[in-house]
Amino acid sequence: MGLCPFHNEKTPSFSVSASKGIYKCFGCGKGGDVVNFIMEHEHYNYVEALRYLAKKFNIEIREEEGTAEHILEHNEKESLYNISQFAQKYFSDCLHNHNEGKAVGLSYFIERELNDESIEKFQLGYCLDSWNEFTTNALKNGYSIDYLIKSGLTVERPGGDHFDRFRGRVIFPIHNLSGKVIAFAGRILKKDPNKPKYINSPENDIYNKSKVLYGLFFAKNTIVKENNCYLVEGYTDVISLFQNGIQNVVASSGTSLTVDQIRLIKRFTNHITILFDGDEAGLKASFRGIDLILEQGMNVNVVLLPANEDPDSFARKYRTAEIKDFIVKNSRDFIRFKTGLLIEEVKNDPVKKTALIHEVVSSISLIPNEIKRGEYIKVCAQLVDVDEQALIYELNRELRKRFKKRSDKIARIDDPVQDEYTTVQQIEYKTDDSEYHESEIIRLILNYGNEKLVFENENEFGHIETSSISVAGFIINDLRHDEIVFETSIYRHIYEEIVQNYEVDVLKIGSQYFTSHSDPQISKVAIELLSKQHELSENWLKNKIYVNCEKDILKEVIISSVLALKAKKISKDLNLILKKIKNSNNVEEQLKYLKEHSYLKEILMEINKILGRIISQ
Ligand code: CTP
Ligand code: MN
Repeated sequence: MGLCPFHNEKTPSFSVSASKGIYKCFGCGKGGDVVNFIMEHEHYNYVEALRYLAKKFNIEIREEEGTAEHILEHNEKESLYNISQFAQKYFSDCLHNHNEGKAVGLSYFIERELNDESIEKFQLGYCLDSWNEFTTNALKNGYSIDYLIKSGLTVERPGGDHFDRFRGRVIFPIHNLSGKVIAFAGRILKKDPNKPKYINSPENDIYNKSKVLYGLFFAKNTIVKENNCYLVEGYTDVISLFQNGIQNVVASSGTSLTVDQIRLIKRFTNHITILFDGDEAGLKASFRGIDLILEQGMNVNVVLLPANEDPDSFARKYRTAEIKDFIVKNSRDFIRFKTGLLIEEVKNDPVKKTALIHEVVSSISLIPNEIKRGEYIKVCAQLVDVDEQALIYELNRELRKRFKKRSDKIARIDDPVQDEYTTVQQIEYKTDDSEYHESEIIRLILNYGNEKLVFENENEFGHIETSSISVAGFIINDLRHDEIVFETSIYRHIYEEIVQNYEVDVLKIGSQYFTSHSDPQISKVAIELLSKQHELSENWLKNKIYVNCEKDILKEVIISSVLALKAKKISKDLNLILKKIKNSNNVEEQLKYLKEHSYLKEILMEINKILGRIISQ
């Protein structure tokens, strides 16, 4: 047991079972196997996690050859990554080791109070003020002109000659989620009205502007820990805040947030706090973008910085504790903030007031959670001083309007395949009261499948013979004998696979096989079942106070679980027969059902008797 790395806690609730190869947090509910842990912790996808582990433990991964197209695409990306990495190193080298770089670039960063650690961490650099120093150097190092152009580092003139895109600018590399450089931004050093302050790499196979947030690679772990992400506009804002102790910060890079960017943040937290500088007009202009965040079901707070400060200057002016204190004290819930800001203009103008209500309710209506919507309606009614009911009316109208728009869209899509899929899904997830007993059987097999059960029988000569069988074998034979079929689809799937594996390869019924199963639903269930802190039922405890753990009374537990499942099945069959009897008006038929009924009833009573005996033994 230890402190959970996925949520803040003071007492340990995070358990790791080395023998089962799984982890489970009883606090936040996260659980998985080794690969899943790396995925969660490093925010890698499956393949990335495998590569990470393989590298860590020096295991060679042999990759299957893909299609020609696949290989081409892969190579294309690899080439772009390689060139970007080379360029980043080259620009850093210029910054630190070249006279011009030191005199112009490095002194610029120092003037902006960025320390060595930040420059190092964010891999800042400088591109010499020469036409093609970089391009020439890259070509000399074996990089092809095609990829240099694709990466945007080199620009080709219509005449055919080449020059460096970022000439005479300081360089901010842009990283993807796993820390690879995928693009660059170059900032001009002297004010020049004829040139843009920043120029950026063009989009290509590895860089999609709307799916990247500046700083996210460096911020992600702190975002998870703090369960909040600060959002600013600029590169320098991120670096300054980071240097001054606020490390859960990312930048939208001057444009309004896209849905993809919001979802990126949502992978790490549900809370965004926007640090605003600037005037009221700028503020209002950003309201639309914030609606997008609400629509994703995220919580949005805003902090208004003191006049004439942007996050960068603000971060430099104060100490970390002061910055944090200011943020906490000035953090406002977005809906309240928006209402408060608009209300100042309304005064007593009823027309303006109506517009305000519409404006605010429209934001509220985007929130997916009904309870949260209701709370905000209350808050808003108070702030604006209108009847709550009137706001609810307005809200419902807004929701209907949106619903209609959406259903029109769906109707137009009208996809039969989609339809069938939905139906199948609905059937798949249907569960009923056998579910618990089925899950118990699976749990027992996963935990103890290869343990031996020993039985003693009297043979024909009156002698006691012992025989042994594995837990899995016992259960499989017993259920097969009575033709028991699992009703809950996920358990049926797992059980069928257990049966198959049992016949082919006994090792595959061990827990490892299922906890790292390729079907994520199956591995999730397996992990849940394996890490269930199993509590013996009250009856067990009452009568067997000396029992420490399930394993001590494994045989009884297994037999009673199998019987309990059978009892459940029989009860169901009995209900069915009763219904048939009721619905039938043919006496002969009714009699037949009645016979069936009393036969099953007897078996049920017998089972219950055994169950009672085992439990109270
Ligand atoms: N931006 C851009 N291209 C521009 C201007 C701005 O891409 N021509 C983006 C950059 O991502 C920049 C952000 O918008 O970081 C915010 O712009 P601004 O506040 O002007 O830049 P800062 O990063 O704050 O730069 P500085 O503090 O050095 O002026
Ligand atoms: Mn700035």
